Amino acid sequence: MRGKVLQVLESKRGEFISGETLAESLNVSRAAIWKIIDSLRSEGYKIKAVSNKGYSLEKINDVLTKEGIKSYLREDSRVSDIICLDKIDSTNNYAKKIALNNAKHGTLIAANSQTAGRGRFGHSFDSPAGTGLYMSLILRPKIESKKFQFITIAAAVAVCQTIKDLCGFNPVIKWVNDIYLDGKKICGILTEAVTGFESGEIESVITGIGINITTQKFSGDYNAGALFQDDNIICSRNSICARIADYIMKFAENLSSQEIINSYRERSILTGKNISYIKDGGKLNAHVSGIDDEGGLIIINESGNQEILRSGEIFTVRENLS
Ligand code: BTN
Repeated sequence: MRGKVLQVLESKRGEFISGETLAESLNVSRAAIWKIIDSLRSEGYKIKAVSNKGYSLEKINDVLTKEGIKSYLREDSRVSDIICLDKIDSTNNYAKKIALNNAKHGTLIAANSQTAGRGRFGHSFDSPAGTGLYMSLILRPKIESKKFQFITIAAAVAVCQTIKDLCGFNPVIKWVNDIYLDGKKICGILTEAVTGFESGEIESVITGIGINITTQKFSGDYNAGALFQDDNIICSRNSICARIADYIMKFAENLSSQEIINSYRERSILTGKNISYIKDGGKLNAHVSGIDDEGGLIIINESGNQEILRSGEIFTVRENLS
């Protein structure tokens, strides 16, 4: 019942709904509704109660919950299950474990905080409580494993389109998995394959997304920033999480579609820039001329030849300021 009350309030966020209407629609007493509202408030939900008007979930109410996420999913959403946790080591770790126990395609795991959030190349990902969105989706896509880079590409486009739709900002993508806003990294994506113990084959793929929503302090020395400044929160983590998941699930039906790769290309900040990158321990310079149809970075190397950098290789790319 608690979930149902929350779902109705979420669907009318910012508007008042009378206790009577709530009670009638859910077939319980008004006293029962009041009890639930009281307990929701003690969990941190900001719910106004005004006599003759009823209850209203305040617009900026950033409690990450299963019901909250669910209320923002499309009616025909392909997200099959939602697991929302207050604290976990890493949503990718959790997703891997349940994927090995047959969790369905489209299972979404979201957390309010991570104690051991992971980034690419063994880096950690700062995941403080309440100020970030940490989510992972379990996918069982019907594509060959050599095309798994399309999942990271789809996730990056999903994040950018969500931020554009809900906040009106235009984030950009730094190949291959970083999302930047106003020159700062606000989001990272970590896509990992899960191999079955017995089959030894890739059975599912986890795409993990971490967004700094209002986080200001970062332990690493990377150029990190937040989606919203000075608590000027435009939309809730629930709505961002649901929209990203819906986009990814839609994209997952045709991962190598031109629509996705074109959207990725339009947002690529490295195109046209001079970069230096680390490959096999050595630092090399190159000019980026674009992104190919497989999501590889097309570069002109120091000898003037064209090369394609693939996401599977171990290197870092930095903008060359000289
Ligand atoms: C990177 O910047 O290198 C990738 C960061 C990915 C972080 C997300 S947060 C949710 C999911 N769980 C993790 O442990 N990592 C990813």
